[in-house]
Amino acid sequence: MRVLVTGAAGGVAGLLLPQLAGEHELRLTDLRAPQPVGPAEVVPGDLADRGFAERLCAGVDAVVHLAGNPRPNEGWDRLLGPNVEVPTRVLAAAAQAGVRRVVLASSVHVLGGYRPPAARPASGPIRDSWPPHPCCRYGATKVFGEAAARVYADSGALSVVCLRLGGCRPVPPTRGWFDTWLGPADLGQAVRRALWADVRFGAYTITSANTRAVFDLDAARRDLGYAPVLGSEAYRDSAPDGPSTLCRGGQG
Ligand SMILES: NC(=O)c1ccc[n+]([C@@H]2O[C@H](COP(=O)([O-])OP(=O)(O)OC[C@H]3O[C@@H](n4cnc5c(N)ncnc54)[C@H](O)[C@@H]3O)[C@@H](O)[C@H]2O)c1
Repeated sequence: MRVLVTGAAGGVAGLLLPQLAGEHELRLTDLRAPQPVGPAEVVPGDLADRGFAERLCAGVDAVVHLAGNPRPNEGWDRLLGPNVEVPTRVLAAAAQAGVRRVVLASSVHVLGGYRPPAARPASGPIRDSWPPHPCCRYGATKVFGEAAARVYADSGALSVVCLRLGGCRPVPPTRGWFDTWLGPADLGQAVRRALWADVRFGAYTITSANTRAVFDLDAARRDLGYAPVLGSEAYRDSAPDGPSTLCRGGQG
């Protein structure tokens, strides 16, 4: 498959690209030239530029859209461009180019408002079937990305799988990451499955199989065949204490 990966110089791409290289024909883009892992076409530029986004999408089968601002504490000024304007540009360009599938990097922060059990509509873990409930502005921008993707999917223009990624790191940096940690092999598996899955549109929480998980993975298991193989509990003795990756609210 010919796959365009945006945000290819970023942290998530650094964990993902070695797993896609060799399996797909890759076109990599970012503001600065990303370091390719294996053979790849590298096309740096700004995705806010409509013409650039259109040129990038021409001739690819799928787009893995990772470009964005991943920092939950940032304000609107720094979030709206990368997380609202850029995904709309990419979705529009992909639809125009006849791209078959877009895999959109969303975040567990779209459901982070359910973190306190008292905020949940039902007992048990947080489910993808519940309405979005972001814990922060960042989460709100990711809700927008999913909504924009759904408009394109519903119009029949393209198919989009939104992955509500947990905290992507080689290992959980602290115990505060134990509930949302997403290890590299599970990230790679989720993206690979999202590229092929037989769904028109969906938004799926993706974490590793963490014992202390607050998110339910049933939707991803059912629709994508996602079967995580890693778990944060393996780091119980080595990871230091630290705060949760989910916000505690209070942004307004
Ligand atoms: N890191 C995580 O744990 C995590 C968790 C959940 C979701 N996500 C999402 O995954 C995606 C990747 O996250 P990351 O941690 O790799 O972020 P990152 O900041 O390391 O990488 C994002 C890349 O996007 C690029 N970018 C931003 N604006 C651009 C533009 N206008 N044109 C072209 N490139 C642009 C940046 O240059 C950067 O290299 C983001 O959408 C983020 O919200 C990340």
